[in-house]
Amino acid sequence: MTEGDVMWQRKWVLGNWKMNGRLATIRTLLTELLPQIHDAQQVQLGVAVPTVYLQEVTECLSGSRIWSGAEDVSQFANDGAYTGETSAAMLADVGARFALVGHSERRQYFNEGNAVLRQKYQHCLSERVLPILCIGETLAEREADQDEAVVAQQLAILADLSLDSVVVAYEPVWAIGTGQVATVAQIAAMHAFIYSQILSLCGAGVKIRVLYGGSVNAQNAADILAVAHVDGALVGGASLQPDSFAAIIQAAQTAE
Ligand code: PGA
Repeated sequence: MTEGDVMWQRKWVLGNWKMNGRLATIRTLLTELLPQIHDAQQVQLGVAVPTVYLQEVTECLSGSRIWSGAEDVSQFANDGAYTGETSAAMLADVGARFALVGHSERRQYFNEGNAVLRQKYQHCLSERVLPILCIGETLAEREADQDEAVVAQQLAILADLSLDSVVVAYEPVWAIGTGQVATVAQIAAMHAFIYSQILSLCGAGVKIRVLYGGSVNAQNAADILAVAHVDGALVGGASLQPDSFAAIIQAAQTAE
């Protein structure tokens, strides 16, 4: 099996720094993290970082097993008059291996919906920047028993794209940054549902990783990563501390 095949068998742990950090703190974080993750050979690793620091992080991580990635990407593909935007081609140019697409904070604060997100997803594919599609329901949607319907609607952007691989991060909005984690039963049910949706949208041959996100930390990571159909974690707050991020990576390394 090639390295390219093996990564679809591994657990993935991706950090999402959001709008945090400065040059000095980023360098310290990475310098303290790297020596702690030498053993984590069985885990696919990455950090999504503020665009302005992407090149710096890519340089700091060169030669390591950690991918650098972006937290967002423009809906526009070509260079032009799009003030403030960063295209998928630019992300690729500075070494980004992946980009988050449709994080709930983008959906909430920037009104991103399926039409825009499908464009972003496709531009990433064109530039060989791996899109990580973030999905998840709000508390009101879960309480109204709409969680599966919402997730199915968010996954619909994958239809008719002829994909051979898909990476999704399931992040219930009510679990992000709140300390409130979905139960193992809730995670198991939703991840199985997401798998079935991806298979019916993309066909049986598609390679799939479904990550869980929302208040993953050093204490709960092992339990979450042991749930069926949980292929890894997308980690916000706990990825900003080298010790807690390293502990989550270690939990992924030893997870079945
Ligand atoms: P959190 O964020 O781990 O701080 O809850 C996760 C995310 O938003 O990706």
